[in-house]
Amino acid sequence: MKQKHPAVGLLYNPATPDLIKHAGSLVEYLAAMPDRLWFDFGPKAEGRRFHRTLGAIEELKRVAHGRVLSGHGIGMSLPSAIPLDEEFVAAVATMSQDLGGFRWYSEHLSVFLTPRGSVPNAQAGLGLPVVYDEETFGIVASKLRRVREALGCPLLLENGSFFTPVPDMEMSEPEFLNRLHAEGHCRTLLDLHNVYVCWRNGGPSLSEYIEALNGDVVGEIHLGGGDDFAGFYMDSHSSLTPPEVWQAAFDFAPRFKQLRAITFEFQETYYERIGSKALIGELERMHELAAACEVEVEAAYAR
Ligand SMILES: [Fe+2]
Repeated sequence: MKQKHPAVGLLYNPATPDLIKHAGSLVEYLAAMPDRLWFDFGPKAEGRRFHRTLGAIEELKRVAHGRVLSGHGIGMSLPSAIPLDEEFVAAVATMSQDLGGFRWYSEHLSVFLTPRGSVPNAQAGLGLPVVYDEETFGIVASKLRRVREALGCPLLLENGSFFTPVPDMEMSEPEFLNRLHAEGHCRTLLDLHNVYVCWRNGGPSLSEYIEALNGDVVGEIHLGGGDDFAGFYMDSHSSLTPPEVWQAAFDFAPRFKQLRAITFEFQETYYERIGSKALIGELERMHELAAACEVEVEAAYAR
């Protein structure tokens, strides 16, 4: 089997083209969020529901040219005990086609939608924790089957960032993710900073969490930084990756033989505060990490 290294890249945002202007050769991969490339007027919208931001899509196409592109979303809220939003899934599938086909698609393993919400698509505004039990597993697994059929590419689910541990669950989050992979539903997008956020807010340590995860489930890693707010540590994507997260990345990522991408996330509103020079340093360190990871390439990813 061919060996190669994971791609290094960024979660796409409106500041990304400027960063790419300064450091294009360091960015091999982009993850684009369809949810941020349209205005969604909700399932009850009269007339057209999704209004695309055409200038932003053209710009993404331009910078994605020659780079690996995946889709990354929050809008499906797969663990919510409500039906899958089929119109939303179809809109993601169309967006994928228009952008040349997402190599893979990732969603968050968090609850974002609330029934009878007051905004059109009823986003909670913050990922709420998931109860890991048989019922949730059944809900997530059946929706993943449908999403995979609609998008026609591999799926990944990302571990969330939570602000208080949920006691007495049937499965831990790593056990839930391991089982999703073992039963053929998806791989894991391991957000190492989210694990750090959970630890800072009372959850398991990075090594405890990652040791419990089967290394073969990890298809992508997220790095990023946050800040303290009102006694909690937030996943605000406002700073560079903390040293403890880098340490975990170098300790564990070389074990992930299906790792396809190492991705840094920052919020565009913090672009100037973090600074392009610091972001370039982050990308260079990500390349050092990628060089330490020899991975096996599967046909579905190697297109
Ligand atoms: Fe993330």
